Amino acid sequence: MADRMDFTRTDARTGLKRLRTVPKLNGEYPARIEPGKSRSREKIAQPLRKLLGELLAGKKRLPLVISGPPGTGKTCAALCFADAVWDAYFLSFPDLVQLEFAPWDQQNSMRRELERAELVILDDVAVGVETENSLRLRREVLWRTLDLRERRANGQTVVTTNCKRDLLTRAFGQAVESRMFCGTHFELLGVDQRLSRPHNG
Ligand SMILES: Nc1ncnc2c1ncn2[C@@H]1O[C@H](COP(=O)(O)OP(=O)(O)OP(=O)(O)O)[C@@H](O)[C@H]1O
Ligand SMILES: [Mg+2]
Repeated sequence: MADRMDFTRTDARTGLKRLRTVPKLNGEYPARIEPGKSRSREKIAQPLRKLLGELLAGKKRLPLVISGPPGTGKTCAALCFADAVWDAYFLSFPDLVQLEFAPWDQQNSMRRELERAELVILDDVAVGVETENSLRLRREVLWRTLDLRERRANGQTVVTTNCKRDLLTRAFGQAVESRMFCGTHFELLGVDQRLSRPHNG
């Protein structure tokens, strides 16, 4: 991946022109990538901003896993990274699992995107209270996706998650851990930016 963006510059943009996603079933986009929504690199915690620059310069390896508590800015940081590459595809993990039940043409176009995109953002990989069957499905979908990305795109993937690595490994198994954590892992600690936002009025 070429060094196309200086992450020390401040800039706010949406990147939507080159960022593709599956619209929700009701036709809306996921909240983070609504047209017109701005994200700024200067709001990303400095150590993570530096790391994103190093990844773009090829000094660190993808896949990148950004883990940390809710509201710390994981998704926004991943989207800022996507703004810096030519072609990115955004998919939330719950949506990816739901697509297993979607019509064939929708599943096929999603798979084509997963094969082709320069960068895939897999947002919100999580473990909930699950039945054995639902966990098996989620494990299979996650393994298949990470494996496909590794083979077709040299693992150019960014994963965000609220879960710790050991919890993910226990839930999804070592084959997933191996594919997910073979690049760079960043734990984003800090305040919940949603809760610390000033109130209007
Ligand atoms: N770089 C940024 N530019 C603009 N706003 C930001 C940025 N980072 C965080 N925020 C603000 O903080 C809020 C939370 O950020 P974000 O959704 O990225 O957190 P998260 O860690 O992905 O949360 P969750 O774990 O719940 O998915 C956003 O709605 C946004 O208002
Ligand atoms: Mg998020």
